[in-house]
Amino acid sequence: MTAMTTDTKPSGDRAVDPVRPPRRLQFPPAFVWGVATASYQIEGAADEGGRTPSIWDTFAATPGKIQGGDTGAIADDHYHRYVDDIAIMKQLGIRSYRFSIAWPRITPQVTADSLGPVNEAGALFYAHVVDELLAAGISPAVTLYHWDLPQALEDAGGWTNRKTAERFGEYAGVVAALLGARVGTYITLNEPWCSAFLGYASGVHAPGRTDPAAALAAVHHLNLGHGLAVREIRAATRVAQVGVTLNLAWVRAATERAADVDAARQVDGLANRVFLDPMLRGSYPPDVLADTAAVTDWSFVQDGDLALVNQPIDLVGLNYYSPTTVQARETGGAALRADGHGSSAASPWPGCDAIDFPPQPGPYTEMGWSIDARGMYELLMRLHREHPTLGLLVTENGAAYADEVAADGSVIDDERITYLEQHLAAINDAIAEGADVRGYYLWTLLDNFEWAYGYSKRFGIVHVDYATLDRTIKSSGLWYANVIIENGFPLD
Ligand code: FCB
Repeated sequence: MTAMTTDTKPSGDRAVDPVRPPRRLQFPPAFVWGVATASYQIEGAADEGGRTPSIWDTFAATPGKIQGGDTGAIADDHYHRYVDDIAIMKQLGIRSYRFSIAWPRITPQVTADSLGPVNEAGALFYAHVVDELLAAGISPAVTLYHWDLPQALEDAGGWTNRKTAERFGEYAGVVAALLGARVGTYITLNEPWCSAFLGYASGVHAPGRTDPAAALAAVHHLNLGHGLAVREIRAATRVAQVGVTLNLAWVRAATERAADVDAARQVDGLANRVFLDPMLRGSYPPDVLADTAAVTDWSFVQDGDLALVNQPIDLVGLNYYSPTTVQARETGGAALRADGHGSSAASPWPGCDAIDFPPQPGPYTEMGWSIDARGMYELLMRLHREHPTLGLLVTENGAAYADEVAADGSVIDDERITYLEQHLAAINDAIAEGADVRGYYLWTLLDNFEWAYGYSKRFGIVHVDYATLDRTIKSSGLWYANVIIENGFPLD
């Protein structure tokens, strides 16, 4: 028997492993790596700089609406710390920053009938944010509406009133004129599904109404507001890319039974096609109109509206976190609502009373949301198939975990890294199969006010200590910085 040495070849029946280069995921050279935030979730300074209340100030001040009684009054104090926060982004090598404008800072005196004057302090705040980003080499991507509707508009009916759409179009034009071509990407609405159905049907989001007919009116006026905003943005700035962000649902039927497949069609209509079809094709899906006929007659859709909604856009932003499974309710069965949108007696799904949302398999994030990156791939491929010339962005994706600062000052969040790797791999697959996905905005830069969950859910790649407002970059933040430098990451 001879002793094995390092140059001894394995013998016998053992296969010789070819030398395998490490497998890598590589993204296209122009792929844009970003992070996303939203005004109410991070800014704080609710009463400063001439800002008037939004529906989220009112909702958060209503007892029982937000976990822990939290509000966005201080949030991450980003209003005062934006210079430091942008410095963190620069340190991480972030290439683009998607943030939203708080409408009540721009035209705080808006009413249903008049936009009112532009508030200089509000306009200057965002001009400074853009200055600072450009100086740091970070391209700004602006969302006009991430849910903080001026309260005065809600008092006049909010999104159930078409005047809100008209004022929104005007406000979008004002912002585009202020920031102009220094902003390369304008996004009209963030997740109008949430604004309409969580805001006006299930009531777990502001303004907290539980009226399914109102939610469908809100859908239409959000669509109309989108179209009017696109028109105004284009009139104000010729060079920007304009689009909308949708939280499209990857809806699967629990079984292949015809009743479950039909439930999936119905939920797909309300989650996806009720926005995609008017915006991109200029019509409402007939099956959605039929499914909701007992709730509303859709008489709020006026002649000419659909042509206004159907403005040419450059891109659609997809926000994706978790899959959706549906099944037809068994006769006499108890209602199941594990749809990830909070527990509420009122459903966010008008006309879907006989449809269940059964619990889905794990693993789960801290939100209780099932992790399945395949939905990311499927939705990008669907958009690519149905609208091949449309540019695609992933405008949000990320995960909440119960992150803690360790004794040595580090925040180790390996589960988040795994989640992000899986979803980036799904995006990479879609790109390999032809989808024109131009960039990825990780949700989110900083731990922040997670709507009805208050500060209890941490989505950031930067930890925020809410007592001191200290920021600590998590291991996912350092990992992301490396992904950006390498334009990819090793797979194993
Ligand atoms: C999205 C929202 C965003 C954040 C993430 C977790 O629906 O757009 O503000 O709350 O979910």
